Amino acid sequence: MRYPAYRPKRLRANENYRRLIRETGLSIDDLVMPFFVREGRSVKYPIASLPGNFQLSVDNLIKEVKAARKLGIPAVLLFGIPDSKDELGSGAYARDGIVQKACRRIRDAVPGILVITDVCLCEFTSHGHCGIVRRAGSAASIDNDATLELLSRIAVSHAEAGADMVAPSAMVDGQVREIRAGLDARGFRDCPIMAYSAKYASAFYGPFRQAAGSAPRFGDRRSYQMDVPNAREALREIRLDISEGADIVMVKPALAYLDIIARARRKCNIPLAAYNVSGEFAMVKAASKMGWLDEERTVMEILTGIKRAGANIIITYHALEAARMLQR
Ligand code: PBG
Repeated sequence: MRYPAYRPKRLRANENYRRLIRETGLSIDDLVMPFFVREGRSVKYPIASLPGNFQLSVDNLIKEVKAARKLGIPAVLLFGIPDSKDELGSGAYARDGIVQKACRRIRDAVPGILVITDVCLCEFTSHGHCGIVRRAGSAASIDNDATLELLSRIAVSHAEAGADMVAPSAMVDGQVREIRAGLDARGFRDCPIMAYSAKYASAFYGPFRQAAGSAPRFGDRRSYQMDVPNAREALREIRLDISEGADIVMVKPALAYLDIIARARRKCNIPLAAYNVSGEFAMVKAASKMGWLDEERTVMEILTGIKRAGANIIITYHALEAARMLQR
């Protein structure tokens, strides 16, 4: 009788053997934790759609960022929620804007963690769009060039406040080039750009828009975010952003786009981030609350899957809890 040389089933039963041949290792090093920061003191408003996440005033944010650092998480991503909004989203680039204040305080109080800022207008504009709106319609359109100038101002104001890296998420054409030029001109040549390059017009952003109060008042984001069925276009967007000077490119959301992550990994050799977005997080929380899923195993499976697809950076609201699981 001839035995096959490879007997996977028998070997897999051995935990040490599984460890030895494991192809993907999820690590705390891979994780980025997003935070929502708002004005005030001692503010900690639970976000109903993102259980375990809060809108935090800067003092409470500092505590959370310290906890993230203690767990060994390398970076946090900040989103600002201003008290007041206007047509031009001026709070986004104000010197004493909420994100700028948060960056300065983290700089002082929590050295040794990378601070990444979301560079966009949607949380700061009264209409909730990611740029200057040209006219209302069923799909609102954005004045690309007027928006570019503002995005660059936002990025520079974040760098001035001490952000280590900026992450433009508006999906405005030319944003990476414009921001790179703006940063370089102001002496921030060393501030890298993580570009939300392939950002789809996704239903999975729903809980975030509730968390950040950034749902568009009219129209939707289809004129600037990507159409769900397109894959090759994502590669074009990614290539374009790399040519404009992106240091890291991103695919967003993650789970319905693992094929895009895998293709991007093969096609480009710069670091690739994936955003495990709010809706993906909320589904896990809701199902596990119902007792329908084992939450810990599900979280690890999802994050490992994103890593296996080819992402080396995973932005996820699970970051703190995943880091705790990985520490055990
Ligand atoms: C836009 C932005 C969005 C997210 C990150 N940056 C929302 C949007 O495009 O509506 C979504 C993140 C998430 O759903 O977790 N500045």
